[in-house]
Amino acid sequence: MGGSDKITIGTLRAAKRERRKISMLTCYDYTTAKLMQEAEIDSLLVGDTYAEVCLGHSTTLPVTLEHMVTIAEAVRRGAPSVYLVGDMPYLSYQVCAEEAIRNAGQFMSRAGCDCVKVEVDRRLVKIVEAMSSATIPVMAHLGLKPQSIQSVGGYRIQGKTASAAAAIIEDAHMMEKAGAIALLLEAVPSEVAAIITESTELPVIGIVSGPDCDGQVLVLHDMVGYGGGHPPRSVKQYAQLHDPLVNAFRSFAKDVSEGAFPAAENSIAMDSTELAQLRRMLSTGRSNERGETGRRA
Ligand code: KIV
Repeated sequence: MGGSDKITIGTLRAAKRERRKISMLTCYDYTTAKLMQEAEIDSLLVGDTYAEVCLGHSTTLPVTLEHMVTIAEAVRRGAPSVYLVGDMPYLSYQVCAEEAIRNAGQFMSRAGCDCVKVEVDRRLVKIVEAMSSATIPVMAHLGLKPQSIQSVGGYRIQGKTASAAAAIIEDAHMMEKAGAIALLLEAVPSEVAAIITESTELPVIGIVSGPDCDGQVLVLHDMVGYGGGHPPRSVKQYAQLHDPLVNAFRSFAKDVSEGAFPAAENSIAMDSTELAQLRRMLSTGRSNERGETGRRA
């Protein structure tokens, strides 16, 4: 699916119908976005995990709308073809529909996102409805909602009991009715994710929600072993960048302290004739070619 053709919500819906899985990664900068598009990742999420993995906060709450839109712009420049999802930060959509629409509009018009993601349950159905009516494509994030961890008391699997699972399933259907165009399920049991995925026409992306979702998303820093100090998630690591990077940084520090860097090939040498002339000029006090000294008489 990924490649040079622009991926749209139509592409994702077709993937669901044809049972082709959708790949999504979080991305926070232009250079990595270029690599991800080259690797044919279908969709990039400019996630508010940026607050944790790039800014070093212990939750996703502190990141601002302006910051998120700015990095979404950079990601779009790096990956013009992917399905780009902008994550609406804490309190940028919960207060009222008008603010939600205006703020979401920044992701759409400035960053060229294909949709925005909001962490919701039935209490926000009116906001999702209003955003959808205002032509904002909404991805509804259900299950574990990191922006609510202060009120739920931590990062916990959601929907473990029959009644909790039924509530999430019902929330998913309410979001579909409210006009959401896709769902993202975080940390719900595989069986619950499977029921939701089968019972909706919306593409369903999962994270720690089992194999039956229509697609999977991972946080970049988790999947490449890059660290970042965020809460652990049960993810598969596809690379271990921590050690190679620390080794590279350590080698650089050693080279600098020992004078091994920069060597001649890392430096710029002046043309020998120009250098000889410069030396003559400096010794006679003439600082430019017209013979001006640059000193006041
Ligand atoms: O912000 C984010 O990166 C997310 C993922 C955990 C899905 O919402």
